[in-house]
Amino acid sequence: MNASQSPDTRASELVAVMSLSQKIQMLHQALADTAGSFGAAGYVPAIPSLCIPAIVLNDAGSGLADGQTDVTAYPAAISQASSWDPTLQRQLGASLGEESFEKGVNVLLAPDVNIARVPLNGRTSEAFGEDPYLAGQTAAAYIQGVQSQHVIATVKHFDGNNQETNRMTINAEISQRTLEEIYQPPFNAAVNQGGAAAVMCGYNQVNGAYDCQNGPLLRGDLDGQMDFKGFVVSDWGGTHSTVASALNGLDMEMDVVQEPAILTRLAPIDNAAVENYLGEPLKAAVLSGQVPISVVNQMVHRIFRSMFAVGLFDHPVPPAPTGYLTPVDTAANQAVALKAAESGSVLLKNANGVLPLTSADKTIALIGLDASVGAETVNQAGGSVRVDQPLVSTPLAALLLRAAQSGDTVVYYDGTSPQVAAALAKSSNVAIVYAGYTEAEGTDLTNFNFTNAVCTVAVSECESVPANSDQLISAVSAANPHTVVVLNTGGPALMPWLNQVSSVLEMWYPGEEDGNAAAALLFGDVDPSGKLPITFPASLSQLPTNTAAQYPGVGGTEVYSEGLLVGYRWYDAKHLTPLFPFGFGMTYTSFSYSGLHVTPDGSSVKVSYSITNTGSRSGADVAQIYVSDPVASGEPPQQLKGYQKTFLQPGQTSVVTLTLPSSAFSYWSTTTNSWQIAPGTYGIRLADSSAGYALTGTVTR
Ligand code: GLC
Repeated sequence: MNASQSPDTRASELVAVMSLSQKIQMLHQALADTAGSFGAAGYVPAIPSLCIPAIVLNDAGSGLADGQTDVTAYPAAISQASSWDPTLQRQLGASLGEESFEKGVNVLLAPDVNIARVPLNGRTSEAFGEDPYLAGQTAAAYIQGVQSQHVIATVKHFDGNNQETNRMTINAEISQRTLEEIYQPPFNAAVNQGGAAAVMCGYNQVNGAYDCQNGPLLRGDLDGQMDFKGFVVSDWGGTHSTVASALNGLDMEMDVVQEPAILTRLAPIDNAAVENYLGEPLKAAVLSGQVPISVVNQMVHRIFRSMFAVGLFDHPVPPAPTGYLTPVDTAANQAVALKAAESGSVLLKNANGVLPLTSADKTIALIGLDASVGAETVNQAGGSVRVDQPLVSTPLAALLLRAAQSGDTVVYYDGTSPQVAAALAKSSNVAIVYAGYTEAEGTDLTNFNFTNAVCTVAVSECESVPANSDQLISAVSAANPHTVVVLNTGGPALMPWLNQVSSVLEMWYPGEEDGNAAAALLFGDVDPSGKLPITFPASLSQLPTNTAAQYPGVGGTEVYSEGLLVGYRWYDAKHLTPLFPFGFGMTYTSFSYSGLHVTPDGSSVKVSYSITNTGSRSGADVAQIYVSDPVASGEPPQQLKGYQKTFLQPGQTSVVTLTLPSSAFSYWSTTTNSWQIAPGTYGIRLADSSAGYALTGTVTR
């Protein structure tokens, strides 16, 4: 307990005094725990005689999940990524880390950095989109925030966990170059920039071996290339062996435990005995010599090293059930959730300046179930990420309140009949239509069609299941061209009515502050500043993974034959025009860029530019830097390698300088099996989207 010693020294001293049984106890889910973790997903009991605290693992991609109560439901990860604001993301991580600590949770099972290879993936909203650089930066900021509160963040699911179909067994066939350039960089940034103290290995296989016993992935890429010093914990039920797991890099096994219904959560979790590999079977493997004791010592060492490094020994969380019973949804954290929901919303269209709503909009028709009772469903995804926290306000409640402040009237209709909705729109100054679809872990979407929100309250409030949202939007916009569509989706949406409506605001799954964020954005109290972290295709036929072999896979294997061409890389290479490009997002003001300078600086390159708010309202824009490698490198046409969000008052100009490290110009050579820089001229594109107008420059490497 000498905090002046290094985490490694402290871990070594502790392992040296432990019995084999004590070591083994640290490596797996408690089977019949006494103290109980009261609601968390995973629990490893304390060893008080050695001052070892209990390890309590809980889901938290967008708030403390797994049934925890009186917590804050933050926006979904896809929204967090849409803010392109590492400062805000670090703040969100710190708020979430603080809530976890007070709840007695010292290991968070987030962030999820799996790349959106397949936008139909049922967990698209749980991760940070299609670009490795944006995902890595967003994850690193979240992790820094969480771990600043002495709570371990667990970056997941390493690796190749990019679909839910057959997720427990599917074998992802991925080339090393594709792994190195697309699927591993977010984990590298999480580990080496974010300092992630834990990694969760996924359910699937990569190149024929399950993630949690995959030596090339765990020993080769994670430990070797990324120099990861923390511990690897399995996804729940993702362990498949004792000896192979221990020898190939798994450190802790988590299993699906049979938990009582939430109502009886106040009793310790009665973990039904579950099959486990790193418990008694591992002890037997050590005693039989199949697994050297040095391997077990290293497994335990890695867990303790992370715990010492993040402060779990020196800052123990409140013991269960104290923490479990503590409300942690403070006003300060709710304010962070609101700001994140506002900043993560993306304004995709705003013709005729219909938004923000002005005092001229005396009567506002608000149409669609997702604006009222449906909002309880679509403010989050389903599955292990879902937070048991009611909305602070529905869009209807918040808009009624906000409209009253400016003397406007809001008239709501759930949208059951398009004709009735059209009549209401016709008699209103502006019509706002809500549409969205739900998604959840365990299944993928088959299309991007809007699901009509299912009533979560008495059917009497819903009248009946509302009409098809596309029909509804078409009918309303035909009746009133001043139609605004607000979307709650976990990923892309198709918009057959796009040319008929004036405005489209993508709010993703905004969390508990759904209503207040919508009101602030629609009335212009806050300027929309989000940018798409995922391409919106014009049709399903544009998707890069359109063969069964690629997705969902054939004969148990999915072949990543699109290679590096994920997301916008595909659209650029195939000269496809999507509905909305990666990086796109509008504001209520306008920005201009000038004075691009690209200057070599040793092995780095400095990029400087001026950004001016040329509009009449304050706002923020995100300058994105895309690098185009020499064609001989075989790289995609352009790749995001830097970005900066700048907030400016009307007329204000800021000069920004960003540094591109040498890694921004590297590619993975399959001949030398290492990172190389192709000699030649590199294009630099500075823009506020991956498509459209840009300032350009070049640099020779
Ligand atoms: C789930 C998910 C994982 C989650 C874990 C614990 O199956 O794959 O993301 O953290 O189990 O709930």
